[in-house]
Amino acid sequence: MSSLPPRRAQLLLRRPDDWHLHLRDGAALRAVLPFTAARFARAIVMPNLAPPVTSTALALAYRERILGALPAGMRFQPLMTLYLTDHTNAAEIERAHASGAIYGCKLYPAGATTHSDAGVTDVAHLAPALETMMRLDLPLLVHGEASDARVDVFEREAHFIEHILAPLVERYPRLRVVLEHVSSTAGVQFVCAARPGVAATITPQHLMLNRNALFSGGLRPHHYCLPVLKGERDRRSIVEVVAGGNPRFFLGTDSAPHARHSKESACGCAGIFSAHAAIELYAELFEAEGILSRLPAFASEFGPDFYRLARNSEQITLVKEAWSVPSAYAFGEAELVPLRAGETISWRLASEPA
Ligand code: NCD
Ligand code: ZN
Ligand code: ZN
Repeated sequence: MSSLPPRRAQLLLRRPDDWHLHLRDGAALRAVLPFTAARFARAIVMPNLAPPVTSTALALAYRERILGALPAGMRFQPLMTLYLTDHTNAAEIERAHASGAIYGCKLYPAGATTHSDAGVTDVAHLAPALETMMRLDLPLLVHGEASDARVDVFEREAHFIEHILAPLVERYPRLRVVLEHVSSTAGVQFVCAARPGVAATITPQHLMLNRNALFSGGLRPHHYCLPVLKGERDRRSIVEVVAGGNPRFFLGTDSAPHARHSKESACGCAGIFSAHAAIELYAELFEAEGILSRLPAFASEFGPDFYRLARNSEQITLVKEAWSVPSAYAFGEAELVPLRAGETISWRLASEPA
């Protein structure tokens, strides 16, 4: 009888990129960056720091801090973004484009999500910026939720699309637009039917979880993010569009770390941390849905194609081997509770080429 361990299934994947990521700054940045750099070659880095990254100068300085936080021997390319405000002018967009380091500009409706207070109160204020972005082919990245507190929290994506995003996409017919972290049937349908140049990112949580996960056995703050998880019908719409291999939909984790004490609070922050196992979580979901063959393009091809960047040439290896996610990671002086804390994930990243 052979005593060799059973052969594990393996998945060789072109190294993926994360097209929507929060890296924060300082000690938090140093804590989370290695997780992303171990898996992804590049990431679109969100600009919602406090204060926000509203100028090219701030974006370039942030880029240096990210590169400075990268552990020796790791490679990673941060693709920077600019935070749009009511006052972003055409000259700032020109500078952003000329820098060669900025790959998109982010629209946060004021008050819609974490650190969006300096966001846009009325997209009419953005006309000079959007015209310049369209001319220079710099994509607009959108947190697509209505910020009006009277709108039902589960309807905010649909409401924003109908009243703001759909008209904007037609008003700027050559502007490339990404509806970030699409969370609803309405969002999926909008992107499928939109003119060319409109795409969406998809997070692991919006693929895997519905809003029951917010209340399973009690209030679950670590499943709270924005856009908030929707119903099962919405989740199925997201799974099905990915199953169909639509190239407008690609990987963006929206990994958004917050200290445990700011999540487990009377007014907890929105954001789910998934960078510790991002590609593994997608692999698990795709396998469970019987669509593992769709993972390579979703994770490693559609994103660079949309952003008009070369696909990565390196590979990573995933091994079908369950591992236990720690209950928390160090996060500067605080702790960070990851998605699936204390549970298992059925795929792991091979640290060595397998
Ligand atoms: C993000 C964060 O914490 O920065 N939170 C979230 O719930 N997704 C902000 C965002 O992407 O909207
Ligand atoms: Zn957002
Ligand atoms: Zn985000």
